[in-house]
Amino acid sequence: MTDRITIRRPDDWHVHFRDGAMMAACAPHTARVFARAIAMPNLVPPVLTARDAAAYRDRLRAAAPGLEPLMTCYLTDETDPDDVEAGFRDGIFAALKLYPAHATTNAAAGVTDLRRIGRVLERAERIGLPLSMHGEEVDPDIDIFDREAVFVDRRLGPLTRSFPGLKMILEHLTTVVAVEFVRATFPQVAGTITAHHLEVTRTDMLGHGMRPDLYCMPVAKTERDRRAVRAAAVSGEPCYFLGSDSAPHPLAKKRAVPAAAGIFTAPNALEIYATVFDEEGALDRLEAFASLNGARHYGREPNEGTVTLERQPWTVPPETPVAGPEERIPNYRGGETLPWRVVG
Ligand code: DOR
Ligand code: ZN
Repeated sequence: MTDRITIRRPDDWHVHFRDGAMMAACAPHTARVFARAIAMPNLVPPVLTARDAAAYRDRLRAAAPGLEPLMTCYLTDETDPDDVEAGFRDGIFAALKLYPAHATTNAAAGVTDLRRIGRVLERAERIGLPLSMHGEEVDPDIDIFDREAVFVDRRLGPLTRSFPGLKMILEHLTTVVAVEFVRATFPQVAGTITAHHLEVTRTDMLGHGMRPDLYCMPVAKTERDRRAVRAAAVSGEPCYFLGSDSAPHPLAKKRAVPAAAGIFTAPNALEIYATVFDEEGALDRLEAFASLNGARHYGREPNEGTVTLERQPWTVPPETPVAGPEERIPNYRGGETLPWRVVG
């Protein structure tokens, strides 16, 4: 039995760091393990321009020394292709982020109609800037459990054909349909996989009392879907890579009605992935998933350093404290014991 594993330093290709006191509380948890992290732009107000992104990047660097934040441009109907290109050429933007309007937390300013961003996508295709997306259909007639599959069929399929040279990332895969679509369209489209979607089903969320701590967007799906997502992650195939979608919310907002969507996994994300890979007998593929595949898809070199995990049970603290009025963030699997621990 393997009790210790060393991999190249990993990257997290999807993180919500927030801002201010929340950012100060959260970002060091990501910096503890990951070298680079894609910083999602759904702040209030959102990160809309290269100038917004550069300022946010500087705040992140100050909050988490040692972490290289990679910035994204929050697409709206009004996004200016020239600003996007300038931000890319200045090394500020690593990707565009598409939120269909109202698809999730702080997505009200997102894109109302994909035709409105045609010029931006053309430009991104031409200059080699990837498009990352929250792939859920927002048509109110679509059942919440079908949002991802319908987006893939109605929006993403046509997008890949309209912009064949545009590199894309379908974020947080949760369904058989999304897993298969990514496999079939790679290398144009790759997919990130969260730690929590490897573990949680909708039955966990709703079947034994309602669990807002397990509520996120896209919502967890069936056991069959979870198995497909797990199999994809541990396959080591280059089209799937680590994006935790760690999304902190203050405890009061997670307990409110309606409850905020998002699960905070930064304090234990890599440990959860390692646990899942171990359960699946695939620890030898953790490095590809966590440290190699994402960098390659984003056209970057893998990191130089390493991270070591050991089989050494530890208990996840229930909460992450936050200075000021927001007080504390519930941690994913807080209070539970995990078998793997990052030791160096
Ligand atoms: O559950 C989610 N929370 N999904 C998202 O896409 C956004 C995130 C957040 O920002 O809280
Ligand atoms: Zn997210």
